[in-house]
Amino acid sequence: MNPREISSGVYWVGAIDWDRRLFDALIPLPDGTSYNSYLVKGADKTALIDTVDPTMEVVLVNHLNQLEVKNLDYVVANHAEQDHSGTLPRILEKYPQAKVVCTPRCKGMLIDLLLIPEERFITVEDRETISLGDKTLEFIHAPWVHWPETMLTYLREDKILFPCDFFGSNLATTDVYVTDRGQVYEAAKRYYAEIMMPFRTTIQKNLEKIKDCAIDIIAPSHGPMYSEPGFILEAYHSWAFDEPKNIVVLPYISMHDSTRKMVEYLVGALAKRGVTVKQFDLTVTDIGKLAMSLVDAATIVIGTSTVLAGAHPNVVYAAFLANALRPNLKFASIIGSYGWGGKTVEQLAGMMPNLKVELLEPVLSKGFPEETDFKALDNLADTIAQKHKEQGFV
Ligand code: FEO
Repeated sequence: MNPREISSGVYWVGAIDWDRRLFDALIPLPDGTSYNSYLVKGADKTALIDTVDPTMEVVLVNHLNQLEVKNLDYVVANHAEQDHSGTLPRILEKYPQAKVVCTPRCKGMLIDLLLIPEERFITVEDRETISLGDKTLEFIHAPWVHWPETMLTYLREDKILFPCDFFGSNLATTDVYVTDRGQVYEAAKRYYAEIMMPFRTTIQKNLEKIKDCAIDIIAPSHGPMYSEPGFILEAYHSWAFDEPKNIVVLPYISMHDSTRKMVEYLVGALAKRGVTVKQFDLTVTDIGKLAMSLVDAATIVIGTSTVLAGAHPNVVYAAFLANALRPNLKFASIIGSYGWGGKTVEQLAGMMPNLKVELLEPVLSKGFPEETDFKALDNLADTIAQKHKEQGFV
């Protein structure tokens, strides 16, 4: 891709990573991603907003050469994570007079992570501005989207918000702006679930903080830009503020089909009672999809076989992730089977202290489930349906 002018004197100069399939050696990227960097040319000064992943350094440098950028005054670092900051050393080498503009906390992190010399920084406080002549950059501190040092940059005259990861989506596309809302909604929700959901209460505060900003364009650092910002602002508002829905998420592992039989029975029993269920076999599950399903679910039921007196390791992993992601769940339960004993319930319940959930009566079957086990699953389905109704989730 070549640089793209998105407003007078404002250019997309980022990189599209079609082939990347994993971020942080953890997060699946089924549709690749992009690292969006933006150049803002004012009458007097020029600023680059965020850089790109170091693997794409040459792409950013080529874009700046194509635009014949001889002098760069500022490189705004909204966020210290290396997919946006990793090319800073190269840019600072190419433009020796350029200063890195960031929050005080970000400065410390960039010195630690990238060994950038202290004299290359200008730190900015919340709502401080820098003039480029006819254009003004305003810096809005927004900690914990999703690291502690983060800020957003607002280009006042053009009404463009550069929020870095906030509102982003891991999507490789040649579309500068959103064209397929369904596709972007899915990718942005996945991104929210994986990256932002653990910080839901600070996300709420940051959404409140920008609600009076007049915004014509949101230009995130991953995925396409939003020329109709209401689309993503409303989606984020819903994910961060809304009560959960009448949904059960059911991740499970079954080694010899006893647990699978119980899972299938419970799914049917819940569906019969009008509860939506999202079932995930953890041997094949895309954990991003599992994370996304937790955004608006009211209940998680974990299904597991018993291995070495506890839950299956894949289930332990899923429970760890669910706890770390801090979804707005209200209820939890555990179902599964065992051969001769174990501490599965105590183990899994103890792994999810971040989830402020009511633990509903678990159902564990000794061997293959029998009539009494199916009756207990019916009771669990009754309880879940009733609890959802009482809470107004239906
Ligand atoms: Fe896209 Fe937190 O980095």
